[in-house]
Amino acid sequence: MTPELSDLESLARQAGEILRAGYGRRHQIDLKGSIDIVTEVDRQSEAFLLGEIRRKFPDHRILAEESGSQAGDECCIWHVDPLDGTVNFAHDVPFFSISIAFEMDGELRLGVVYDPLRDECFSAERDRGAWMNGTPIRVSEAQDLLHSLLVTGFPYDIGENPNNNLDNYARLSLLTQGVRRMGSAALDLAYVACGRFEGYWELRLNPWDVAAGGLIAQEAGATVTDMQGKPDFISKPQSILAANPKIHALVMAELKK
Ligand code: IPD
Ligand code: CA
Ligand code: CA
Repeated sequence: MTPELSDLESLARQAGEILRAGYGRRHQIDLKGSIDIVTEVDRQSEAFLLGEIRRKFPDHRILAEESGSQAGDECCIWHVDPLDGTVNFAHDVPFFSISIAFEMDGELRLGVVYDPLRDECFSAERDRGAWMNGTPIRVSEAQDLLHSLLVTGFPYDIGENPNNNLDNYARLSLLTQGVRRMGSAALDLAYVACGRFEGYWELRLNPWDVAAGGLIAQEAGATVTDMQGKPDFISKPQSILAANPKIHALVMAELKK
């Protein structure tokens, strides 16, 4: 048995209730790295999502941020980020999401990114389109960097690894209307998909950060590759660049400098 897009939407909306209930409260914060944190709400959301996926699709493999890989049939893989934007969430900054994607036979088929505070549900089905709360969405038509607002992010090892994206951030900030750092890779991609941002890039992410948002951006007309221009933006070592085809080429040229 395989899921429908409505199954992913329903899971994301129910996990959204968990995030909404926990938002704005004091949290139990545990460190995964020097600046990489997890709260009890990440764990509650993930426990709910994994429980539901296992109940309905017991043979499927699941890759989830807090529990890692759950054994299952390699042909059907779920990518789950139960709370993308944990640092924002822990600081009561209202920009975070739930990201769920379903991959079959090596191809991303379904993706949902849900912003529970704005009740914006971004979704896509391979070759069928991308939507926000059921309305079709499309990438921006901007054709040059000067009319573009971009978004990026930085890896949690920013302090230790000199390949930390600050050089790209500085260069593209001087060529565009701005480069935002919002703090949820999944929502960044969803915002590219609906034309709020012209483009997004980031390095050293995980599949659960980008699987759903990458598919949503592709189905909304974005070119989505890794930062070398290769089509696989899921496998490690992993990076991503998403934008309409013209802006994708212009940003790619700058990232190669
Ligand atoms: C993080 C966010 C952030 C990105 C980080 C991710 P998390 O995910 O997507 O925007 O810059 O690289 O790890 O830890 O909040 O799920
Ligand atoms: Ca994440
Ligand atoms: Ca997360």
